Amino acid sequence: MSDTPGFPQAPEYIQTLNPYVPGKPIEETQRELGLKRVVKLASNENPMGPSPRAIAAARSALKHQHRYPDAGAYRLRKALARHHGTREQPVAASEFLLGNGSNEVIDLLIRTYARPGEAIATSQAAFVAYRICAQAHGVETLETPLTADLRFDLEALAEAVIRDARVRLVFIANPNNPTGTHNTRAELRAFLSKVSQIHGRPVMVVLDYAYWEYVSSKEIPDPMELYREFPNVLVLHTFSKVYGLAGFRVGYAIGAPELLSFCERIRMPFNLSAPALAAAEAALADRAFVRKAVQVNRQGLKFWQRTLDRLKIPHWPSQGNFVLADVKRGLGLTGPEVFHLCLREGAIFRPVANYGLPDALRISVGTDAENRFGARVLEKVAKKVIGGGSK
Ligand SMILES: Cc1ncc(COP(=O)(O)O)c(C=O)c1O
Repeated sequence: MSDTPGFPQAPEYIQTLNPYVPGKPIEETQRELGLKRVVKLASNENPMGPSPRAIAAARSALKHQHRYPDAGAYRLRKALARHHGTREQPVAASEFLLGNGSNEVIDLLIRTYARPGEAIATSQAAFVAYRICAQAHGVETLETPLTADLRFDLEALAEAVIRDARVRLVFIANPNNPTGTHNTRAELRAFLSKVSQIHGRPVMVVLDYAYWEYVSSKEIPDPMELYREFPNVLVLHTFSKVYGLAGFRVGYAIGAPELLSFCERIRMPFNLSAPALAAAEAALADRAFVRKAVQVNRQGLKFWQRTLDRLKIPHWPSQGNFVLADVKRGLGLTGPEVFHLCLREGAIFRPVANYGLPDALRISVGTDAENRFGARVLEKVAKKVIGGGSK
């Protein structure tokens, strides 16, 4: 805290902000622990890497790096409009807001639509960027408790939104990270019907579908269905997951141009580099790569679910590219404790105590070899813990 005379004070909401904690990098772990082999299953990335077509497109864009990028992202918008539109229900290029990762889009939406002192609403254990972006702008976050099966309680959330006149935006991740759990079409429609009609106070509902391509459950609705039905709905997508471009930072919202045009006013004009724009456009076109990535994830997710069953570690059903394990019930240790034990053996998982889930550990799906290595580490730790009688 800065009591130092002469230094200006940051606002209290900045001084108390807990910043985002990224997954631990591989190189740092190797250096610190002197390990040769380290596997990172901690950031829900695509273990296949980027599509070769995306790499080629980015490389070719390098030639023009003395130029500013296309601030209007004309080509990517057109490609996205084709991707999300149908002949009967076209989507216009103006229905997209592009950000430096969907993180930036979240930030832009909050800064555009909530004033300091107002609020956003979401669930406990929701993707943490909502709360961080809100607090960074002096906006409060209302969080309703999870259901017993670790899902968003949309009835409680609707009540909270209706009750508190400060709420301007609601964030629903479907499936959610880090829980992997989801809400059904019926739950979402009931929620939207309730909050879309609050007298004189339209509330924006942001449906974060970062993991949409991985979804296999028919219970999860296509977000475009809800977007078409409810004008206050916005949908978030990202190129960081199935498209394997987390490093390029490309995410976007689909929303009514009337809403997005105000975000455009405060967006930095060159928030996406030309190689990133080119890579995203090429990745979107590589449907075979996406199909393969989904298949690799499905197999990997099953592998982890079987492994956790075998080790008698309970876990929650997941519709993403990760699984949340209840290591407290399985091994008698907290998530951070199991994280440290596994780290020493070269497997980086993700403790999620900062999400209010101290007993859980999130495991991202990797390649087959990475999954096997990670599972061997977890098994070794489990044997040590249980064999050592520390349960
Ligand atoms: C639910 C959810 N939304 C959004 C993101 C952010 O993705 P990015 O900023 O990389 O687009 C993530 C990343 O983990 C996520 O889990």
